[in-house]
Amino acid sequence: MPGGWTVIKSKHLSIFIVSMLPIILLVILSLVLIVMIVMTYGVRSLAHYETKKQEDRDKASLIQGWLYSGIVATIIAIIASIYFLVKGTPYEGHLVEWLNIVVRVMHITFGIAWIGASFYFVFLENALNRTDNVRDELAGNLWAVHGGGFYYLEKYKVAPKTLPKSLHWFKYEAYFTWVSGLGLLFIVYYFNASAMLIDPNVMKLTAAEAISISIGSFVVGWIIYDQLCKSSLAKRPLVFSIVGVVLLVGFAWFYGHVFSGRAAFIHFGAMIGSIMVANVFFVIIPAQKAMVNAAKNGMPPDASKGKKALLRSIHNNYFTLPVLFVMVSNHFPSTFSNRYQWAVLAAISIGAAGIKHWLNLREQGKLSVWVLPASILLLLAVAYVTAPKQVSTKCREVSFIEVNAIVQQRCVSCHSSRPTDNIYTTAPNGVKYDTPQEIVFKKDLIMQRVVITKTMPQNNKTNMTLEEREIIRCWIEQGAVIK
Ligand code: HEC
Repeated sequence: MPGGWTVIKSKHLSIFIVSMLPIILLVILSLVLIVMIVMTYGVRSLAHYETKKQEDRDKASLIQGWLYSGIVATIIAIIASIYFLVKGTPYEGHLVEWLNIVVRVMHITFGIAWIGASFYFVFLENALNRTDNVRDELAGNLWAVHGGGFYYLEKYKVAPKTLPKSLHWFKYEAYFTWVSGLGLLFIVYYFNASAMLIDPNVMKLTAAEAISISIGSFVVGWIIYDQLCKSSLAKRPLVFSIVGVVLLVGFAWFYGHVFSGRAAFIHFGAMIGSIMVANVFFVIIPAQKAMVNAAKNGMPPDASKGKKALLRSIHNNYFTLPVLFVMVSNHFPSTFSNRYQWAVLAAISIGAAGIKHWLNLREQGKLSVWVLPASILLLLAVAYVTAPKQVSTKCREVSFIEVNAIVQQRCVSCHSSRPTDNIYTTAPNGVKYDTPQEIVFKKDLIMQRVVITKTMPQNNKTNMTLEEREIIRCWIEQGAVIK
C-alpha cells in the first residue's frame, strides 16, 4: 500500500532527524560562535583606533560586552549539546571530567588573581609611608622593588584634581571567581546530586530539594549578612563579630545536618564566597563608582559610602583564609568525615581567621601577644580531636580470601575497569580493585578511607558493615599479604 509506505518512511525520517538534532544544533552553534568571535575583532578595532570620540568608544565597548556574553552563552550551549550527545555512553564521564578540569583551573586562576590583588592592596594600605616627605594631597606613598624594577606608588587622600584617562578597576576577578565556582558546583555536585550532594544517612532528599536548599542557602546567607551590616550592630565591632561567628557556626551546623560531609564543607565556603562577591558587586564597586563620579564633577565624595565599602572589604579580608581552607578540604576526609564535622569546620575557620587577624595587626606594626598562639592552639586542638581513635579489639588471623570477598562485594561496583554503578562509569580517581595486587598497593589509602575516616564506600552506598571494616583493619595490620 503506497500510503502506508510513506507513513513508515516519514516516521523513519523524523526519527532520523530527531537523532540528528544535537549534531545539527552543534554545527549551527559552532558557526554562530565563529561569527561572534570574528565580530569581536571588528568591534575591537573600532573601539581602539578608528574613532577617537568617547561616545563611539563607549558604544563599541558596550557591543563588545554583549558579544562576550553571547560567546559565553554559546559555549555553554555547545557543551550542553555535546553532553546530550554522549549521555549514557562512557564518554559522559570523560566529558564531565574535562569540564571539571577546565572550570576548576579557571576558578583557581581567578581566585588567585582576586585574593592576590586583595592581599596586595591591604598590604599597601598597611605599609604606606604616611609621614616621611608626603605631599599635601597624598595619604602616603610606597617604594617597592619587584621583577627587576623599582616601583613608586602614591595614594591620594581624596582624589586627584583631574581624573587620569585610564583607571584600572579590580572587579572581574571576583565576578569570574564566583561564576566559575558556580559552574563547579553544577559539574561536581548538582549534576551528580544523588552521589555527591546527598547522603541518605544524613537526610533523605531528592536532587531537586537538595539543589534548591543549596542555592536558597546562599541567598539567605547574603540577606542575613547584608541586613546585619546595615543595622546598628555594625557600629560595635566586637558584638558584630560575635553575632557573625554564631551565625556562621549555625550555617556550618545546618549544612552538616542536610548534606554529605564534603558537600557541607564546600557549601559553607561557597556561601561565604558568595557573600564576598556580593560585597564587591553590591557595595564596594558602587561606592567606587560614586567616588569616581564625584571626582569627575569636582565634588567631594560621599564619605559614608566609602566607609561602608571599607567595612565590607575588611570582612572579605577575614573571610579569605577560612574559604581557602574549605576549597582544599575535600582532600582531607579526616576533617569532613568527623561526627561533629560542623564543629571542626567552625573551629578551623575561626583559627584561620585568627591567623589573618594577626597578619593584619603585624602589617600595621601592632604587636599582639595572644592572637597567634590562641589561633594555633585552636587548630592544634582540632588536629587532636580528629585523630584516629585507638581500637583495642584483638584481631584473629584474617585471610586474603575474606578480604577479597568484602572488596568485591562493597567496592568494585565503582572501583573496577568495568564499574556497574549507576553513576560512576569509570573507576573514581583511577582506583581499581580487579586484582589482588591492586588491593595490596592501595592498602594505606584503604586504611585511611575505609577504617579510619569511614568515607568509603562513598556515602556507604554498598552498605559496608562495621565488622567488615574491622576485618580490613586486621588484615592490613597483619601485613596485608595475599595468602
Ligand atoms: C558508589 C561508588 C563507590 C564505592 C562503592 C566505593 N568507592 Fe571509593 N571512591 C569513589 C569516589 C567517587 C571516589 C573519589 C572521590 C573521593 O576521593 O572521595 C573514591 C575514592 C576512593 C579512594 C581514594 C583514592 C585517592 O586517590 O585518594 C579510595 C582509597 C577508595 N575510594 C577506596 C574504596 C574502597 C576500599 C571501597 C570499598 C570498601 C570503595 N572505595 C567503594 C566511589 C566509590
